Amino acid sequence: MLRRQLFAALAAAVVAGAVPAFAQEAAKVGLILPMSGPFASTGKQVEAAAKLYIAQNGDTVAGRKIQLIVRDDTGAPDVTKRIAQEMVVNEQVQFLAGFGLTPLAFAAAPIATETKTPMIVMAAGTSVITDQSPFIARTSFTLPQVTIGIADWAAQSGGKKAVTLVTDFAPGHDAEKSFKERFVKAGGQVVEELRVPIRNPDFAPFLQRTLDAKPDTLFVFVPSGVGAQFMKQFVERGLDKSGIRLIATGDVTDDDILNEMGDAALGVISTHHYSAAHDSPENKAFVEGMKKQANIRANFMGVGGWDGMHLIYESLKRTNGSKDGTALIEAMKGMKWTSPRGPVEIDAKTRDIIQNVYVRKVEKVGGELFNVEFSTFERVPDPVKAAR
Ligand code: PHB
Repeated sequence: MLRRQLFAALAAAVVAGAVPAFAQEAAKVGLILPMSGPFASTGKQVEAAAKLYIAQNGDTVAGRKIQLIVRDDTGAPDVTKRIAQEMVVNEQVQFLAGFGLTPLAFAAAPIATETKTPMIVMAAGTSVITDQSPFIARTSFTLPQVTIGIADWAAQSGGKKAVTLVTDFAPGHDAEKSFKERFVKAGGQVVEELRVPIRNPDFAPFLQRTLDAKPDTLFVFVPSGVGAQFMKQFVERGLDKSGIRLIATGDVTDDDILNEMGDAALGVISTHHYSAAHDSPENKAFVEGMKKQANIRANFMGVGGWDGMHLIYESLKRTNGSKDGTALIEAMKGMKWTSPRGPVEIDAKTRDIIQNVYVRKVEKVGGELFNVEFSTFERVPDPVKAAR
């Protein structure tokens, strides 16, 4: 009896416009990130960007208040999994988001599937991540997507004999494989494939092997946050004076730490989907916002976080604030927008991001180092999935 009365009163209030339907129930976003440990810079970037997005766009969308819950997984997959479970079951989050490293995204994927919770991968970059659950959409990038361009560039600019040096985990293996396939197809040769441990990397023995192999080109991938350490050892071992040309994915010439690398980084050519120097009004607002939000220079991890929040907001708008995970992930498919990085789209078939990949050169601008874009591959999908 009491329930019926209550329901009638609530219904009357809704009809009268006093209480919009579901207005009281927040849409919770569970943001799981490495906020401590060697990959804490990724967590810091993504968290700052998500908060910036909310500050710029308001904390209410389609009548629902957005509530961001940030948790530190320390970069350990078992912790990511436990937090994801707690967030879905106890906190009833409507979106899982973040995922700073590939193994962390893998750990959470089964929970997204079992509970039909959209999972936005904002940082990790191994191609197969989006295959792990039909509820995953990605706003970061894939290593094959950003690597094929530098392989083409290397071959076209006279490279014949290359060594690859990558961090020994899934995204590194993706980069190594894509570079080799593409470089060999263009007539080049890969004479050594070097893999450096992910924990406490010492690049010295690998740089010595590079010198011994006498290539004309060294292609490198290390994850965000590690590039400065690599560059220091590159100089200490004299590779900057060896005549071997250093090329990389933009993970190495990471905007967040590029200035720490000093002049040794000048002239390094890389390909990537984001540069803090990207010339657009959207990026200007983003870079200024990140500086104000967290006193950091925005990098590619940050832009993945900003665009991930955009995807969440727009899916809520398109579904009138739905709570149905299947409806929300469906709404994300095919979504297009102008990101601070340039035009982007969520591939309706793969739920992966289609985006421009830029060729850039490290230059000094106003006394600081930047990745200055000078050429563009437009609307690049993940090439591994596109070839299926
Ligand atoms: C990943 O773990 O997928 C990953 C991490 C850092 C990067 C790129 C990929 O810079």
